[in-house]
Amino acid sequence: MIKRTSQLPGFYKVTVAERRKLVAEATGVEAHEIARALDGGGLEAETADKFVENVLGTYGLPYGVTLNVRVNDKDHVVPMVVEEPSVVAAASNAAKMIRAGGGFRAEIDEPLMISQVQITNVKDAARATSAILAAKAEILAKADRAVPGLCARGGGARDLEVRTLGQPSDEMIVVHVIVDCRDAMGANLINTIAEAVADRLASLADGRVGLRILSNLCDKRCVRVRCRVSADVLATDDMDGQAVIDGIVNASRFAELDPYRAATHNKGIMNGVDAVVIATGNDWRAVEAGAHAFAARTGQYSPLSIWRRDGDALAGFLEMPLALGTVGGTLRVHPSARLSLRIAGLESASDLAAVAASVGLASNLAAVRALATDGIQRGHMALHARSVALAAGAEGGEVEGVAAIIVEARDITVEAARRALSVLRETSRRPSGDGEALGKRKERQSSTAVEG
Ligand code: MEV
Repeated sequence: MIKRTSQLPGFYKVTVAERRKLVAEATGVEAHEIARALDGGGLEAETADKFVENVLGTYGLPYGVTLNVRVNDKDHVVPMVVEEPSVVAAASNAAKMIRAGGGFRAEIDEPLMISQVQITNVKDAARATSAILAAKAEILAKADRAVPGLCARGGGARDLEVRTLGQPSDEMIVVHVIVDCRDAMGANLINTIAEAVADRLASLADGRVGLRILSNLCDKRCVRVRCRVSADVLATDDMDGQAVIDGIVNASRFAELDPYRAATHNKGIMNGVDAVVIATGNDWRAVEAGAHAFAARTGQYSPLSIWRRDGDALAGFLEMPLALGTVGGTLRVHPSARLSLRIAGLESASDLAAVAASVGLASNLAAVRALATDGIQRGHMALHARSVALAAGAEGGEVEGVAAIIVEARDITVEAARRALSVLRETSRRPSGDGEALGKRKERQSSTAVEG
């Protein structure tokens, strides 16, 4: 019986092989299974050739895990696929602060998606609307017949809405069939339903069939996440926790008042959400489209999360639509996506949405805290330095050592990294204590940059 935990102290300091063992112990997914599903990107070119067209190969991205994530009293080690340095470390770090205040509280809507059928050439929109609504039971039954597998899993068509668009001269209505997709993201199911009911809807409306497709603004499938963070864990070397709270609330107000800032604030949220969405084989373009349409729903583009003072503590709230699946689609064929669900201990689409949104809120907290205190560049640069060290040819333990040197010298260039690497290699050949001093420096930098 494994004790599922997401707290793995010192995780960032050990090798990839050791991390796999630690994750195996924490999640019950064996290290050799992790290796099989991830080595070589987890996807053969032959399999990729079945996904899309004109395949030449596959394209790898880093696969990390966010630690410390606790949602509704359950721990999750959360896989993230992302190329940007510091995103995983920042989310782990912020999740640790949130965990100290009890973790994330999430509530998730039923998995209801919208199937849109556009009807054009409608002479009398009011009459068309009444005729369609009067035939609601018949339309829902027709929709259900088109997706028997979904109905067998407990999902199916639930409701019907008719909206008149534009001016009467546009002669256009749109019918929404609301469908419970259970654990599927639902795009294929929803499109199948749209095509199955369109002719009958057009005949009831005495109009012509237009587009038949899902809406990515799935605002009936939202997730809401809350957290409370105490001031002491927010404090930095230079600012006390209360001042950090004021700074974060100020950052939130800025985003609430200014779409230019809201876009960047939301990008910080999507750093976390998208990385989980990609790691679990879900459609991140659909999630992005839904998130930004939702953010603009009042007519002013707004932040998906807000931060407020709650007594002496900080309270965060995030609301966004999230159409994710844990069955079907890419999950059927991509071994790494299936592995991600097992590592995270997730089976249902709603739990996955709760976890992805929580990681989004953690990423957002990390970003606004950094912006309200030291600025974003310090942490970013420390991590960017590691990629520069790699580019300069550093290997294994040399990467951290070289990164520490170029950060300290405030010269994060490949040239500086090459010089640092030759100094490091030269020093490690000498029997004196210089190597130890470099080792200490490396340790210091790691703990500020990537503490998980
Ligand atoms: C960078 O990937 C994300 C941030 O710009 C988010 C933000 O400004 O809140 C740091």
